[in-house]
Amino acid sequence: MIALIWAQDQNGLIGANGQLPWHLSADLKRFKRLTLNHPVVMGRKTFAGFKRPLPHRQNIVLSRQTQLALPTDVQHWTSLAELTAYTTAHPDEVVFVIGGAQVFAAVLPYADRLYRTQINGTFTGDTWMPAIDYSEWQLTAQTPGVSDADPAVTYSFDDFTRRKIGK
Ligand SMILES: NC(=O)c1ccc[n+]([C@@H]2O[C@H](COP(=O)([O-])OP(=O)(O)OC[C@H]3O[C@@H](n4cnc5c(N)ncnc54)[C@H](OP(=O)(O)O)[C@@H]3O)[C@@H](O)[C@H]2O)c1
Repeated sequence: MIALIWAQDQNGLIGANGQLPWHLSADLKRFKRLTLNHPVVMGRKTFAGFKRPLPHRQNIVLSRQTQLALPTDVQHWTSLAELTAYTTAHPDEVVFVIGGAQVFAAVLPYADRLYRTQINGTFTGDTWMPAIDYSEWQLTAQTPGVSDADPAVTYSFDDFTRRKIGK
């Protein structure tokens, strides 16, 4: 099973200069709680924005480059075929695809679940979530929250599963 997980602002913004445009600790906690002990797949640019691989998760970096210098504990996949082969071989595993925009766009057709954090504000940045047709998705859980930042920002944790054909 493939799950996408991301946070976006009201305009679908997700990135700024290789980083997240905000600091929202509740979102980081949710990300950790959901992804811990699961494989996490990310684009080469998202991984470049990390100080180190995410602990207690198999980190997998997508890049079409054949020679890519990565820490020894980080896996390298050169195509989505490796992702689909992995999910076929591990049908009970939830693989979290954690961004960025290019990788979300490529993986969206294969995704079974979405974990979206909708931040009710507008930020400045350079990377946006690809368009998602939410008529294909069923909202299964929605949890609102308020940040402890000043000024406070409200957000919502929204979980979706892909609708079955005909439902
Ligand atoms: N708000 C959030 O939740 C969130 C989550 C994650 C990331 N982000 C932000 O998003 C931004 C980065 O996103 P991005 O779209 O610029 O880059 P990205 O998706 O992280 O990485 C793009 C790179 O991934 C590789 N790639 C993409 N599709 C591939 C495919 N089908 N097969 C093989 N390799 C593939 C390519 O690497 P090569 O060029 O090496 O071939 C491509 O240049 C950053 O600002 C980051 O902080 C935000």
